[in-house]
Amino acid sequence: MQHQSLTTAVQEGNAQRRTEVYSLSKVFHLFSYLTFLSIIMPAFTVDPNIAKAKTISTEFYTDPHYFTAAKEKIFSQTWQFAGDTGFVNEPGECYPFYLLENYLDEPLVLTKNKENNIFCLSNVCTHRGTIVVHEQCKVAHLRCRYHGRLFNLDGAFRSMPEFKEVENFPSKDDDLTRLPIFQWGNWLFTSLNKSCRSEPYFKEMTDRIGWLPVNDFVFRPQLSKSYLVNAHWALYCENYLEGFHIPFVHAGLNAVIDFGNYTTELFKYSSLQLGIAKDEEDIFDLPADSPDHGKKVAAYYFWVFPNMMFNFYPWGLSINLIQPLNIQQCKVSFLTYVWKEDKFNSGAGADLNIVEMEDEEVVEAVQKGIRSRFYKYGRYSVTREQGTHHFHRIISEFM
Ligand code: FES
Ligand SMILES: [Fe+2]
Repeated sequence: MQHQSLTTAVQEGNAQRRTEVYSLSKVFHLFSYLTFLSIIMPAFTVDPNIAKAKTISTEFYTDPHYFTAAKEKIFSQTWQFAGDTGFVNEPGECYPFYLLENYLDEPLVLTKNKENNIFCLSNVCTHRGTIVVHEQCKVAHLRCRYHGRLFNLDGAFRSMPEFKEVENFPSKDDDLTRLPIFQWGNWLFTSLNKSCRSEPYFKEMTDRIGWLPVNDFVFRPQLSKSYLVNAHWALYCENYLEGFHIPFVHAGLNAVIDFGNYTTELFKYSSLQLGIAKDEEDIFDLPADSPDHGKKVAAYYFWVFPNMMFNFYPWGLSINLIQPLNIQQCKVSFLTYVWKEDKFNSGAGADLNIVEMEDEEVVEAVQKGIRSRFYKYGRYSVTREQGTHHFHRIISEFM
């Protein structure tokens, strides 16, 4: 009897253990499935139909995880402003810089070789990883000052002392990484993603206003300026991407822009807002083959994902670069290029500093509100917020 109850107890124990193991394996499978889902599912979704869409989840602006993730998912995958050909005028000139300083912080260097080719290289020595070029200079080769490794101006490894015995050396890995350059006029752009194509980002802009003599635009450092904005970088961009707020926020600009005829055009990774003038003054003298011929264009506001704005006025160009600093601060740099001095500071391109102050005030107020417990999402105006909806859609695609 006793023996029989012992057997039953053992059998029950085994059955219980089998149930526990089975439950554990179920939990494990569920966990793996959820991990798999989190990998394949986008972190954010925004309905392609603007009439149905809700704005991107506020977590994008408030969760530090997404601020950091955007470094690799957005900023390392796209094009960034790398400088001006004027930084490396003569063969041998080198210009070191950090791509998106305080965010991506990637050490790079622009160089020009004897054949007048410009290169954008990693500025990190392939020996033990120190910075190669420390300040702007003119040299025949790049020499690392730590142990004397020498590179050509195109980044190729040239020589290294005390390395005769090293096997399989040098290899391709001993060259400085060369990054792609997209050049338009005197402006240089690069991407940390070597296979990033420039067309989806720039072609619509360069085609649309290809008639402008952009090589003649002169950089004016004394007219250029940087602003520290207390807002997430994306909040600054999405304000730029709608003209909806112009009548409410920019009285001066509203006096010269015809709000009724303001249009937004969306492209793959860029967009264009066309500012039409109220009167005949301060408008572009458009060539007959321009698709905008006959329109009173006061400004072309081009935006290139994720953070570059190119504002063309009849006097020239204001480039705005939005640099993320932390989750609630960004640096906005205005680079001023003058084409027609006599038209400077007129029309839609007048008093840009005042317009900036007006924009900063509203954008910083959004920064304060976006983290509210009571704000979850908004909706878009179908007629006035296509640019912002498009921006949120692209962010969702990249994240
Ligand atoms: S780190 Fe450059 S030569 Fe050693
Ligand atoms: Fe604005």
